[in-house]
Amino acid sequence: MYKGGKIIASLVIFVALLSLPFFYNRGKANKGPEINLNTPAILQLADKQCVEPTEWMRANHMQLLLRWRDEAVRMGKTEYINSQGKSFKISLQTCLNCHSDPALNTSDQFCVSCHNYTAVKPNCWSCHTWPQEAAK
Ligand code: HEC
Ligand code: HEC
Ligand code: HEC
Repeated sequence: MYKGGKIIASLVIFVALLSLPFFYNRGKANKGPEINLNTPAILQLADKQCVEPTEWMRANHMQLLLRWRDEAVRMGKTEYINSQGKSFKISLQTCLNCHSDPALNTSDQFCVSCHNYTAVKPNCWSCHTWPQEAAK
C-alpha cells in the first residue's frame, strides 16, 4: 500500500507538471489580431459601414488602396464613388480617420495589428503618416 500511494502521488505530480504549459498559455495561444472597431469616429457613425461591404474590404482593401494611389498620383482623381453611390475622398487618411484610435499604441492600431499578425508589411508607412500620428 505504501508503494502504491507513492506511485499514485508521483503520477498526480507528473500529470500536474505536464498540464502546466496548457494552463499557462490559456488565453495567450492563438491570440488573433486586434480588430478594434470602437474608434471614436466609428462609434459616431449612424451607419456602421466601411467604404465598401466588410467582406469585400477584408479581401480587397489592398487592391482598393493601390487603385486609389494610382488614381490619385497618376490621374489626379480625388473622389471615389462606392458601390452604393456614396462619395469618399481618395486618401489613406480617409481610412485612418475612421480606423485609427488615439487611445492605442501604433502596434495595436487596426491596420498595424492585423498586418503584424498576418506578417504583411505594406511599405506605405515609410512615406505616409502612421495611424497614431494621424490620430493626433
Ligand atoms: C516613396 C514614398 C511613398 C510610398 C512608399 C507610398 N506613397 Fe502614397 N503617396 C506618396 C506621395 C509623395 C503622394 C502624393 C502626395 C499627396 O498627394 O499627399 C502619395 C499619394 C498617395 C495617395 C493619394 C493621396 C493621399 O492623401 O493619400 C494614396 C491613396 C496613396 N499614396 C496610397 C499609398 C499606398 C496604399 C501605399 C502603400 C502600398 C503608398 N501610397 C506608398 C508617396 C508614397
Ligand atoms: C466611414 C468610416 C470608415 C472608413 C472611411 C473606412 N472604414 Fe473600414 N470599416 C469601417 C467599419 C464601421 C467597419 C466594420 C463594419 C462591420 O462591422 O461590418 C470597417 C471594416 C473594415 C475592414 C474589415 C475588418 C474585419 O472585420 O476584418 C477592413 C479591412 C477595413 N475596414 C479597411 C479599411 C480601409 C483600407 C479603408 C480606406 C480605404 C477604410 N477601411 C475606410 C469604417 C470605415
Ligand atoms: C483583418 C486584417 C487586416 C486589416 C484590419 C487590415 N489589413 Fe491590410 N492587409 C491584410 C492582409 C492579409 C494583406 C495581404 C494580402 C495579400 O497579400 O494578398 C494586406 C495588405 C495590405 C496592403 C497591400 C500591401 C502591399 O504591399 O501590396 C495595403 C496597402 C493594406 N493592407 C492597407 C491596410 C490599411 C490602410 C488598413 C487599415 C485601414 C488595413 N490594411 C487593415 C490584412 C488586413
